[in-house]
Amino acid sequence: MTQDELKQAVAHAALDYVVEGEIVGVGTGSTANFFIDALAAIKDRIRGAVASSEATAARLRSHGIAVFDLNDIDTMPVYVDGADEITAQGAMIKGGGAALTREKIVASVAERFVCIADGSKLVTRLGAFPLPIEVIPMGHAVVARRLAALGGTPRLRMKDGAPLITDNGCMIIDLFGLQIAEPALLEQQINDIVGVVTNGLFARHGANVCLLGTAEGVRTLTF
Ligand code: 5RP
Repeated sequence: MTQDELKQAVAHAALDYVVEGEIVGVGTGSTANFFIDALAAIKDRIRGAVASSEATAARLRSHGIAVFDLNDIDTMPVYVDGADEITAQGAMIKGGGAALTREKIVASVAERFVCIADGSKLVTRLGAFPLPIEVIPMGHAVVARRLAALGGTPRLRMKDGAPLITDNGCMIIDLFGLQIAEPALLEQQINDIVGVVTNGLFARHGANVCLLGTAEGVRTLTF
């Protein structure tokens, strides 16, 4: 099976976690896009969705799925999203698509985080994937120096020759070369740096379920 077929398989499997008549939180990225396309088939059985990015909102709307403002929602049963890396304990690195802050906010409102990922995302230790950190633009160099002091190599994410700007008007620093032994501790340490909006470690509140696409079928990990 190709990587896309594995992503499609887990995206379809995630439909089993969608609660009828309720709102579903929807992540960002290629796996989340497969989930949105699958969700379209059952759109009449849900109230609508909350999106974790402008791109996700546009894709949901293109399928005729109602997109709600998070500020109008108290809670939702489930949030479905991909990951760049996930451990067997449910800690993740996210933010490869630069949507980490909105993803973390929407996920914080959901009762359950269902991670959908192809098998290549399962790791024993986080950090081979550079850790994305969203930062306030006027302080990006200060933050980069403080991140370097933690042991990684920071690099400002670029797009079309200029710093990438997120949906929140901020920038992304990718931190390379980390070997993350204690993800929850590092998540807190980085968030404590003034100028950081948030970082792509989802460890203090990780996944509750991971649907992992493998050649043998969809594996379900629960945490
Ligand atoms: C976007 C994310 C994505 O979930 C993550 O990058 C995985 O993406 P993909 O499903 O394309 O592999 O965190 O900010």
